Amino acid sequence: MQHYLSLKDIDSLPQWVEEAKSLKADPRQHKYLGQGKTICLLFFNNSLRTRLSTQKAAMNLGMEVIVMNFGSEGWALEYEDGTVMDQGTSEHIKEAAQVVAQYADIVAIRAFASLTDKKKDEAEVVMNGFKKYAGIPVVNMESSVGHPLQALADAITLSEQNTKKRPKVVLSWAPHPKALPHAVANSFVEMMKLQDADFVITHPKGYDLNPRLTKGIEVEYDQEKALEGADFVYVKNWSSYDDYGKVLSLDGNWTMTKKKLANAKFMHCLPVRRNIVVADEVLDSEDSLVIEQANNRTYSAQIVLKKLLESIK
Ligand code: CP
Repeated sequence: MQHYLSLKDIDSLPQWVEEAKSLKADPRQHKYLGQGKTICLLFFNNSLRTRLSTQKAAMNLGMEVIVMNFGSEGWALEYEDGTVMDQGTSEHIKEAAQVVAQYADIVAIRAFASLTDKKKDEAEVVMNGFKKYAGIPVVNMESSVGHPLQALADAITLSEQNTKKRPKVVLSWAPHPKALPHAVANSFVEMMKLQDADFVITHPKGYDLNPRLTKGIEVEYDQEKALEGADFVYVKNWSSYDDYGKVLSLDGNWTMTKKKLANAKFMHCLPVRRNIVVADEVLDSEDSLVIEQANNRTYSAQIVLKKLLESIK
């Protein structure tokens, strides 16, 4: 594996999940693998879990870690070729990516969608720019269209918690006052396509995800109907994909409650707005898996870094 940019970079999800669970049981078992190697974490956007869990994963493997809040502290980057740079951008991705590679063996990047320009967002200019020019492995810590470290952690959590041969898993939209990207939902869908599960997506009309991604998956616009018999309910807000980046509904009837959850386990990637996305009674109950999902972020990052270190040794 050269890069970890999406779930497509995983050759066998079940094997990776089992390996991640083994790392979780003994996190320091490969503590010399990353000795003498440095990872650089570049954040164009805020983070709690991704930042700390990826650092922790790298430290468990004996790596050195450099972190930069590039979005607030770095030079504004230019991504277009041949631009006369007389406007707001100060440095071209060609130099910036090659410079980072002078200091690090792996670069991990967080760069969210703008939600204003679908074409540009889907071109993944930041991630692909580093991939093209850095010449070192690139890890996606949430890009415009995907959050594969989160989805891998969610696969680990499902594997640990599931007791059925074929569980029912529901991805349910929830209201949110701000326009949020599609990355988490997209990668969760991609991950669920690799699972033996009865998978249903539910959201109000106007919130369909990218149809190229959801092709063949059941979409049920009636949330109550979708939740019937669910074993796991993954709740997430996203803005409209068709009316790109717009908030079309703040309908509180979509907030997840204990009554709606019934006997299912609750999942969310965090951060979450209490009593907007989900009621306190759910988050504070034993049916909430959110802290275990956050815990598993370390082992999803660790299995990815381990595979990359093995490939560059
Ligand atoms: N779930 C997740 O990626 O959390 P952060 O945005 O805090 O990193």
